[in-house]
Amino acid sequence: MAHFLCLLFLLLPSATACDRCVHQSKVDYFSSDAPLSSGACGYGSLALSLGGGRLAAAVSSLYKQGAGCGACFQIRCKDPKLCSSTGSNVTLTDLNPNTQTDLVISSKAFMAMANQGMDQDVLKLGIVDVEYKRIPCQYTNQNLSVRVEDSSSNPNYLAIKLLYQGGQTEVTAIDVAQVGSPNWSFMSRNYGAVWDTSRVPTGALQFRFVVTSGLDGKWIWAKSVLPAEWKPGQIYDSGLQITDIAQESCSPCEDGTW
Ligand SMILES: *[C@@H]1O[C@H](CO)[C@@H](O)[C@H](O)[C@H]1NC(C)=O
Ligand SMILES: *[C@@H]1O[C@H](CO)[C@@H](O)[C@H](O)[C@H]1NC(C)=O
Ligand SMILES: *[C@@H]1O[C@H](CO)[C@@H](O)[C@H](O)[C@H]1NC(C)=O
Repeated sequence: MAHFLCLLFLLLPSATACDRCVHQSKVDYFSSDAPLSSGACGYGSLALSLGGGRLAAAVSSLYKQGAGCGACFQIRCKDPKLCSSTGSNVTLTDLNPNTQTDLVISSKAFMAMANQGMDQDVLKLGIVDVEYKRIPCQYTNQNLSVRVEDSSSNPNYLAIKLLYQGGQTEVTAIDVAQVGSPNWSFMSRNYGAVWDTSRVPTGALQFRFVVTSGLDGKWIWAKSVLPAEWKPGQIYDSGLQITDIAQESCSPCEDGTW
């Protein structure tokens, strides 16, 4: 047990970003959504199905070498005449290499910050002052799903990404095994949201994920996900959803109401 806890500890990223705290920044928008659907996370055109097309590219402290992919943020602009107090909820799908703004968002997300009828006025501003914080992603009608990447080849190479990941967590490890077998192979993060292994168990496959939760982490076990004849390009339902919330210790941290 001690060994297991130690392992979990090592797998957890250092909690430095404190992205659940309220941050002050500026936000810019992409005039087209194309950069986001070819984003660093590797969601491709599926990105447009995440968060209703309200997407964000984030600086590396939020992108976290891919661990931030799929995270949700609430952003509101600070001009109460133009913008609503609820702001816009966005899903992270890309890395923003320019550090002038913490986030660059899709124009749809940008306009969603506006008060009713003011969306064009907000758009005209271009860059606006905002505050933002991480929030739980809510996929009420979708389970956590596993997409088998096009680069996969049954039975030798398996690359996957997770879609529709609820809650406010980061996946820090993924293992795969044949359904019913205790012989787990670990997967490695290849890039963005994509994990892979060339030690692919045969048969139908189960997964276990280590996610950040509370102040440490926990295993989430999806007992039957891929059929034996899994195919590149297909999306498979994990049969579960994540609702955990990670609480990195950050202080001071305003994470309350705004
Ligand atoms: C955005 O997220 C917040 C916090 O989870 C939630 O209260 C709010 O209803 C969401 N807004 C929309 C438009 O979904
Ligand atoms: C465990 O799984 C790996 C990868 O599928 C395989 O190479 C290995 O032979 C398996 N070991 C046992 C004891 O079944
Ligand atoms: C989610 O998984 C459960 C099984 O755990 C299943 O009953 C349900 O239909 C799935 N929901 C969706 C929206 O696919």
